[in-house]
Amino acid sequence: MSMGVLPDTNEAYGAKEYWDQRYSQETENSDFDWFKSYKDLAEILHELIPNRMSRILMLGCGNSKLSEDMWEDGYKHIVNTDYSKVLVENMKQRHGEARPEMEWYEMDVRDLKFDEESFDVAIDKGTMDAMMTIKGDVWDPPEQVIRDCNKEVDEALRRVESPSR
Ligand SMILES: C[S@@+](CC[C@H](N)C(=O)[O-])C[C@H]1O[C@@H](n2cnc3c(N)ncnc32)[C@H](O)[C@@H]1O
Repeated sequence: MSMGVLPDTNEAYGAKEYWDQRYSQETENSDFDWFKSYKDLAEILHELIPNRMSRILMLGCGNSKLSEDMWEDGYKHIVNTDYSKVLVENMKQRHGEARPEMEWYEMDVRDLKFDEESFDVAIDKGTMDAMMTIKGDVWDPPEQVIRDCNKEVDEALRRVESPSR
């Protein structure tokens, strides 16, 4: 496990450059779980995702062990995204051969490139939090925060419009 580099300001957690720099300083085997690990979440995830065949989208995977631990627990269809290129390359190296069903993409959660209805479940652990670090009143967040969070949610919920009659 590595604590990585701490930024000078909280706002840096909202910058891609920060994450690229942080992951560049770590080895491909470094891991760090923000907030909670799979052990803490397994019970609720079993309840919310009873079908191990579910297609799962991991939004801002980082080098967390969540996807790996879920895979070991039988959730094989996990597509991982993160906007840090260096991180995604590291994770591909680490898991590519050992966990072939898992996929890894450099992608911004505000602009997902997948087709509508490609997934049954979307998981965000700590990613929206990283987009909410711009200083401001939590009861009246800056426009940028509102825009970023709405974009992520809209993308995760994107559906094929049913034809109008
Ligand atoms: C606080 S870390 C959480 C990592 C992991 N989900 C965990 O639980 O440990 C936030 C992660 O989200 C990624 N991230 C932040 N904003 C993003 C965005 N707009 N699109 C994709 N990834 C993003 C960062 O590169 C970083 O890996």
